[in-house]
Amino acid sequence: MLALVKTIRFETDDIIRIELNSTDQADLPAFAAGDHIDIQLPHGLTKSYSLMNDPAEKGRYVLGVLKDPASQGGSRWIHDNLRVGMRLEINPPSNNFALQENFKHTLLIAGGIGVTPLISMAHRLKALNASFEMIYAAKSQGSTAFQDEVAQFGVPVHWHFDDIHAAPPNLHQLIEQRIKTASLNSDTCQLYACGPEPMLNAFLNACASLGLHHAHIERFKALEVQKSTEAKATYTVCLKRSKKTIEVGPQTTLLQALRLHDIEVATSCEEGVCGACETRVISGLPDHLDSVLSDQEKNKNTVMMICVSGCKSELLELDL
Ligand code: FES
Repeated sequence: MLALVKTIRFETDDIIRIELNSTDQADLPAFAAGDHIDIQLPHGLTKSYSLMNDPAEKGRYVLGVLKDPASQGGSRWIHDNLRVGMRLEINPPSNNFALQENFKHTLLIAGGIGVTPLISMAHRLKALNASFEMIYAAKSQGSTAFQDEVAQFGVPVHWHFDDIHAAPPNLHQLIEQRIKTASLNSDTCQLYACGPEPMLNAFLNACASLGLHHAHIERFKALEVQKSTEAKATYTVCLKRSKKTIEVGPQTTLLQALRLHDIEVATSCEEGVCGACETRVISGLPDHLDSVLSDQEKNKNTVMMICVSGCKSELLELDL
């Protein structure tokens, strides 16, 4: 579908806020807190961006885009070329960072531009009159976007600026403090974090050592996951709905093999981060190489990300 670029505003030197509308003033497809959209950029790249506005809004999508110095063309192209009035090809919203709405308390933890999906969650929690608070860490106050937006929720926010503290936040200490102060435990508190990789690793370690099991993350980039030593170089894939059997060889990925056989599959990032290609596994043992599924989900082997994952059994049966 096409979306119209309605406004672009600089929030900091390297973060812009973009508002997209429909091209005919109709409502846009509804979205949920934590959803992202995929933008198809003119030079063939597809990039995912979190929606940060209130999911109750029907007429617009709001995104925050950081100009990443390591950009392969996505955020750099957007910063350098996107103009008000342009039309962008986008995919409807989708979610692999869904907000649960039945917890006593929610802790939202943002690192830099990772605040965007958490702002959308904060809108939803506010609308539900639910108890929540935020930790928002960034390199410096000057590089911190959407400060007013975060403050408007009127909930406790722990701000952390690395340049003032000369160090990143001590998440273990901060989370432990919050849990103790509010008399929470693993059954009553859920946590969501989005930010750079070191922060997410610190968050997961803190939650594990504090026994907090309802901890959710969204990554910017794919993890470097090594193939299992049990991974097969050659395996057979049975496609239940298409009634086809295909061979995947050492020089071909599963996704390439599917495409070679004209099997239509929904993909977006093709790096194992967005969840768009999630496919049900009927039988067989996937070699999970994605950054979407939790270890628990990987162990269940009921779904797999077919863009990056392989296979540890001779035969893999998929619901395709
Ligand atoms: S296409 Fe994004 S995880 Fe597979």
